[in-house]
Amino acid sequence: MQSRLAPLFLAFLLLAAGCSRQQADRAGAPAVDDARLCAAASEPQSWLTHGGTYAEAHYSALERIDTDNVAQLGLAWSFDLETERGVQATPLVADGVLYVTAPWSVVYALDAATGALRWHFDPEVPRSHARLLCCGVSNRGVALYDGKVYVGTLDGRLVALDAATGQPVWETLTVDPGWPYSITGAPRAVEGKIIIGNAGADFGVRGYVSAYDARTGELVWRTYTVPGNPADGFETPAMERAARTWTGEWWRTGGGGTVWDAMAYDPELRLLYVGTGNGSPYPRWLRSPDGGDNLYLASILALRPDTGEQVWHYQTTPAETWDYTATQSIILADLELDGRVRRVLMQAPKNGFFYLIDRETGEFLSAAPFVEVNWASGFDASGRPIETDVDYRHEAKLVKPSPLGGHSWEPMSYSPRTGLVYLPALEMGSLVKMDPEWRYERERYNSALDVSVFTRFGADAGAGGGDEGQLIAWDPRRQRAAWRVSHVTGGSGGTLATAGDLVFQASADGRFVAYRATDGHRLWESPLGTGSGGGPVSYLVGDEQYVAVAAGWGSSFAMSASEAARRAGVRGGGRVLAYRLGGTAPLPAPKHPPLGPVPAPSFRVEASEEQRLQGTTLFHLHCSTCHGALAVGGGSGIPDLRYASEATHAAFADIVLGGLRIAAGMPSFADRLDAEQTRWIQAWILQRAADSAARE
Ligand code: HEC
Repeated sequence: MQSRLAPLFLAFLLLAAGCSRQQADRAGAPAVDDARLCAAASEPQSWLTHGGTYAEAHYSALERIDTDNVAQLGLAWSFDLETERGVQATPLVADGVLYVTAPWSVVYALDAATGALRWHFDPEVPRSHARLLCCGVSNRGVALYDGKVYVGTLDGRLVALDAATGQPVWETLTVDPGWPYSITGAPRAVEGKIIIGNAGADFGVRGYVSAYDARTGELVWRTYTVPGNPADGFETPAMERAARTWTGEWWRTGGGGTVWDAMAYDPELRLLYVGTGNGSPYPRWLRSPDGGDNLYLASILALRPDTGEQVWHYQTTPAETWDYTATQSIILADLELDGRVRRVLMQAPKNGFFYLIDRETGEFLSAAPFVEVNWASGFDASGRPIETDVDYRHEAKLVKPSPLGGHSWEPMSYSPRTGLVYLPALEMGSLVKMDPEWRYERERYNSALDVSVFTRFGADAGAGGGDEGQLIAWDPRRQRAAWRVSHVTGGSGGTLATAGDLVFQASADGRFVAYRATDGHRLWESPLGTGSGGGPVSYLVGDEQYVAVAAGWGSSFAMSASEAARRAGVRGGGRVLAYRLGGTAPLPAPKHPPLGPVPAPSFRVEASEEQRLQGTTLFHLHCSTCHGALAVGGGSGIPDLRYASEATHAAFADIVLGGLRIAAGMPSFADRLDAEQTRWIQAWILQRAADSAARE
């Protein structure tokens, strides 16, 4: 939007039906209502919703910190979160208070000027739930509305807290506990309702998004993203249409399509946009044996916020088969295209293409690859991707991007000043092969990919095709990169674009960096004392502009990033850091001393080559989601098992089968592994340690 149009546009928005004013009913709590959320762009001193405004551009209109003075930026305060595990949250700021979440869905309210703790709320998620999580115990943030703070918990609850005190006001279970659901995404407040999705498609669940009454916690609507068993009848015409694109008995494994992250809202069109996730299991040949597009997997759905009714859909990856979720950031903007201003929706989902969609109609406008893509060669006139040879039923195929995605949960940002989208990308391929032995088990990781590809292609092949993190400034009108910065290490955090023509991002090896938005020139950086993080935000307290980020390493996946984090001494811990011009607060020491090279292990376990090979497969089935692929620890507080001491190895079976460390988040595997298999895993870990020690 042109800035001179903004006041007019705002006035119009305030008239829109979704933007009415309400009275706050709680003394001392921020009075965030529909009117304030709709006008969030005119209140840059705050950060009222996940993406800053309903358009989710992660853009701050503040310009006091700019390209000329950013070199004087210094730490104003920091606050150490009580965690060892991956921080992915984007904080919210209203009326001088910063609200942020830590792993295990814990909420903190901090004084935005000093970092002093106002209150803290721990929903006490049972630690046993860790086994039902694909990707760690992360949480991406809260919603603010009606004097309350809303958080979704890992075990599927939606909790409303009094924003002034942190005391629970209401709580409701949003999932069937008989299925392996979880919540990691931030709720959104829209038209008096709190919108929340869930995760779990890697284990096998049926995706949906729900709306709860913000005041009472009562369910207002629930919209499924994939059809259930036809014998039970269809909830909506959209589900009936979707069912025609599925075959076999998909509902037995849930189907997938979880709404685990991105949402956006257009109050003028009164459309709520949500992105849907991957299929359960991944290989389409198992999920829907006689073909079909499997609607609405990997799709963007436009819904009516008052009823949840589906207005349009666009499927980014028909018959999704590589974990290519379309849950990545959705940004709404008005762009001039071919001489005409179009209301667009932008997304860079995992599948590697950057999309422009007409957000009123769902019409496909254009798409282009932002990383190397080999699963599709382009698009037909209707906006359908043209697939290449993708059949990985019988032999391993190198697919690009990898199932980690060309872009994942890390928020991207858009500056209306430069017209560029700042996209944290991962250039990486992966070998995929279907597991011919796979059988659905409800509490297991049900990707149905053959993890033994790791064994056969070895540690040094990485995951089969490099692993390079990039910050890409994408020009959506021309559908090409304006500039790119390659990170030394894979992976990096979410981005913030500001009216000071700066882009902020936390790097995997533990630096907070400011780039010039126009050309990517690095203007400033400062150590975080921990790893990469969620979306940075900016706000004012009085006249002072702050930039804050919640950081902490926690991904157990991107291997080179984990290795680089380890080498950089960035390990464990999570913290919120706030910066201002002339800030001089000291950076607290990292929580853990850096790990040196992997020591050669002295412990011995008898196992044959064949048994160690079995051990690799079992490790990647049961352990790698937390301890890292190929046992390269993610730099988080979860131990890198190659460093395990002699005493730990002596207690290995007690830890893995006996539940010795269950309180610290290490599950017991007594129901899945026997003593013999546990020994094979241990033997393989010892061999990995010896190999790493020999190389370093
Ligand atoms: C859900 C996450 C998760 C999974 C899955 C998991 N672990 Fe752990 N593991 C942890 C955490 C967290 C700790 C640290 C516990 C502590 O701090 O005492 C840990 C600790 C350990 C330790 C002790 C390491 C040390 O140096 O103290 C061993 C050994 C271990 N795990 C083995 C395994 C094996 C083998 C598997 C697969 C069969 C596995 N883990 C699967 C989370 C997990």
